[in-house]
Amino acid sequence: MARITSSVYTSHVPAIGAAIDLGKTQEPYWQPVFKGYEYSKKWLEQEKPDVIFLVYNDHATAFSLEVIPTFAIGTAESFKPADEGWGPRPVPMVTGHAELASHISHSVIQDDFDLTIVNKMDVDHGLTVPLSLMCGQPKEWPCPVIPFAVNVVQYPVPSGKRCFELGRAIGRAIRSFPEDLNVQIWGTGGMSHQLQGPRAGLINKEFDNMFLDRLIADPKGLANVPHIDYVREAGSEGIELVMWLIARGAMNDIEGGHAPEVKHRFYHVPASNTAVGHLILENK
Ligand code: DHB
Ligand code: FE
Repeated sequence: MARITSSVYTSHVPAIGAAIDLGKTQEPYWQPVFKGYEYSKKWLEQEKPDVIFLVYNDHATAFSLEVIPTFAIGTAESFKPADEGWGPRPVPMVTGHAELASHISHSVIQDDFDLTIVNKMDVDHGLTVPLSLMCGQPKEWPCPVIPFAVNVVQYPVPSGKRCFELGRAIGRAIRSFPEDLNVQIWGTGGMSHQLQGPRAGLINKEFDNMFLDRLIADPKGLANVPHIDYVREAGSEGIELVMWLIARGAMNDIEGGHAPEVKHRFYHVPASNTAVGHLILENK
């Protein structure tokens, strides 16, 4: 059977992608950000997952404001990089895992969560920047990736509680796939940031570190934080953090297993307009 080996959490700041693509990672501004991912790149190389289930948000790239799915699963064989702002990044195509994605769709929808099935879509910085941070600049990504897009851009957005419960359903789905696969689940976006209005530039280190503490030790309690608290404390784009609860909900301890081991924790301010947070939790 398939198993979930670990979960990875990371911000997706688009300027990080540009810094990598333009060869600026050693510049004094960026060097401390990339230093926080040195361990992670080595860890991922050793872990050799068979599939990454990557929870992210699209930024009006694949989904315009005409159609806005709350939760969308990518079931295609491959996904083309595309982006707003800097344009499509010069990164490899993303290979999917259609069989596992179809199995998860079936299981999660029968488990009462309404997913949108997407057989063709492009992926933006929300998905490619986490891959670049964790993998560097390879010719091909190390394994197939199932993109799972969450609407945190256009209100109404899903609650942290719903995201956490959805993560549990995704966990059940992955564990019931009959093939022997090591699957990682990634939760991306965040941490605190606000890109618009009079509060633009808001960063809240205390909230971010409390969020990291509780994501590790009190995920069920953290799932009860209402969306308005994210917006007030972590800024309008800080709501991206609810996606981390999907990954956390899929870990073994939520279903009565052992607490995960914290393999790595990193926090840095600033990168562009955001705080960068990163965590690796391994199932024991
Ligand atoms: C920035 C951050 C984001 O999360 C995003 O999606 C776009 C821009 C920024 O820091 O500028
Ligand atoms: Fe974003």
